[in-house]
Amino acid sequence: RGHEHARGHRQPERGDPEEIRYALLWKPPPALFDDLRYLEVIFSVGAGVDHLVACSTLPQGVPVVRMVEPVLTAGMVEYVVFNVIRFHRRMDEYERQQKSGDWQVLLQARADEITVGIMGLGVLGQAAASILTDMNYRLVGWSRTRKKIPGVQRFAGRSELPDFLSESQILVILLPFGADTRHIISRKAFCLLPSGAFIINAGRGGLVDENDLLSALASGQVAGAALDVFQEEPLSLDSPFWTIPNVLVCSHSAGTSDHENERITDIFCENLRRYLAGEPLLNMLDTATMY
Ligand code: NAP
Ligand code: GLV
Repeated sequence: RGHEHARGHRQPERGDPEEIRYALLWKPPPALFDDLRYLEVIFSVGAGVDHLVACSTLPQGVPVVRMVEPVLTAGMVEYVVFNVIRFHRRMDEYERQQKSGDWQVLLQARADEITVGIMGLGVLGQAAASILTDMNYRLVGWSRTRKKIPGVQRFAGRSELPDFLSESQILVILLPFGADTRHIISRKAFCLLPSGAFIINAGRGGLVDENDLLSALASGQVAGAALDVFQEEPLSLDSPFWTIPNVLVCSHSAGTSDHENERITDIFCENLRRYLAGEPLLNMLDTATMY
């Protein structure tokens, strides 16, 4: 992961590159693929594969499999639910009150009075939506293609994005990053959100125009943000996000898998078995959409 590279972890010993047919990896150095000329399948330990798609040395025609893993999904749901409750129950304001010893009772809305908008109704978005629906939040969701999800009012495609945004009091961003979604949340989107909306971004930093978010936070159009992902990671020490009081920064850890965990190994082995048996691989990167 990025922070491990930042701490100077070395690449593992790889043996003879000509013998390597399968690679299980996160963010490889681009030069890696120049050596691995006989790769047949690339397995990502991450759910998002945008960095691989963007890698100029990624071998063409080699299937890429992304990670769909229950512990990662559960972690992401916890992160989203925690932050929805934190904003809904005004815990961010209580945290600020506590710093100044201020005893004020803050009015609380009921969960069914709060509309949570989930951008991206894939594996992670649907898992979060399911728990939030059970907790009585009002849910709206947006994706490329229309979904049928019980209890969620669905919006699809660019033409329905403004209606979706105008309902989202707490906006949860769980989209993949790519050419279509880069800066999808920018000044225009902030203006469409209800005044005083909250943002939870656990997709990728590049989905949000960070300068526009800073302006929206300063003006109060956005009342608070929980950010797990950033345009540049690790977040630079001089980033204003560290110190803005209504922003909670996490270090790209909302939904992570321990790379050495058994589930990853099991998922990898099952897919390898499928590959060797000539069966379709699970969770392959769709080369039409590139996610
Ligand atoms: P997924 O199953 O592929 O779902 C992606 C969803 O986004 C789908 O509903 C898709 O619509 C929608 N979408 C994609 N492009 C769109 C567009 N241009 N317009 C509208 N909707 C679009 O992905 P996932 O497993 O839920 O993961 C989502 C993302 O979360 C990953 O790509 C990764 O960036 C991020 N992530 C972050 C962490 C973390 O720790 N912060 C951990 C894991 C993943 P359709 O269903 O119509 O195709
Ligand atoms: C983490 O960000 C992932 O994509 O799994």
